[in-house]
Amino acid sequence: MHDKPIGIFDSGVGGTSIWAEISDLLPNENTIYLADSKYAPYGKRSKEEIIELSIKNTEKLLEINCKIVVVACNTATTNAIKVLRSIYDIPFIGIEPAIKPAAIHTKTKKVGVLATKGTLSSELFSKTSDLYANNIEVIEVIGTGLVELIETGRINSDEMHTLLASYIKPLVIQNIDYLVLGCSHYPYLIPILKKMLSDKVTIIDSGEAVARQTKSILNIKKLLNPNLEMGTHIFYTNKDADILKNILRKSNTKLNVSELDF
Ligand code: DGL
Repeated sequence: MHDKPIGIFDSGVGGTSIWAEISDLLPNENTIYLADSKYAPYGKRSKEEIIELSIKNTEKLLEINCKIVVVACNTATTNAIKVLRSIYDIPFIGIEPAIKPAAIHTKTKKVGVLATKGTLSSELFSKTSDLYANNIEVIEVIGTGLVELIETGRINSDEMHTLLASYIKPLVIQNIDYLVLGCSHYPYLIPILKKMLSDKVTIIDSGEAVARQTKSILNIKKLLNPNLEMGTHIFYTNKDADILKNILRKSNTKLNVSELDF
């Protein structure tokens, strides 16, 4: 049981930003990553479709014998994790925009949240926002088109710079001092975002928190892998393996990336 893999899924390649944090914190755990790129972006889909796709991905990860599932997608977490937890008898870890730390630390009382339409319109996001951010201004921006560009390998393209600038400029004018990245694809945009934002704006993403939560739940459930060797990592995509390989190329791990129909 203990050396069974941690299953991770996302609507595409973006959740590898979460995988990287998990494999850093838990280097001896084995992982299986599913990039559901064929159906990306989830952000535009209905809640029902997102639930259906999340069930499909979970079924695949269970078939491969995963001991825990990390939903490395804000859109899938905010729309589907409740249903997943009600169906399956294994632990699920989710990811949500990190509004809480931003709300606690903001001095200008203005926080920007960049996320998908599916996340920003979800009940879970509005609950979290009401709970932690009721005395500050939360400026929500839908990152329309960003996931599509990342999914087609255009992270550093001119189109990306132009699109991102159109989302970020209004936030700068409104004097935010925290920018919350509410989509697991967006950490790959941090180098560009840093050039667009002054040092006074702190960028927050949830990757590290998800990795810590994964470790904590594995520990509580007594599922941590006691083996001391380095874990193995397998990546599957139902679209283009080259895009996934490319986004992973900076990781030091030996990569095992292939295409799979799911
Ligand atoms: N990585 C997904 C998220 O965290 C992207 C959503 C999408 O596919 O639109 O929300």
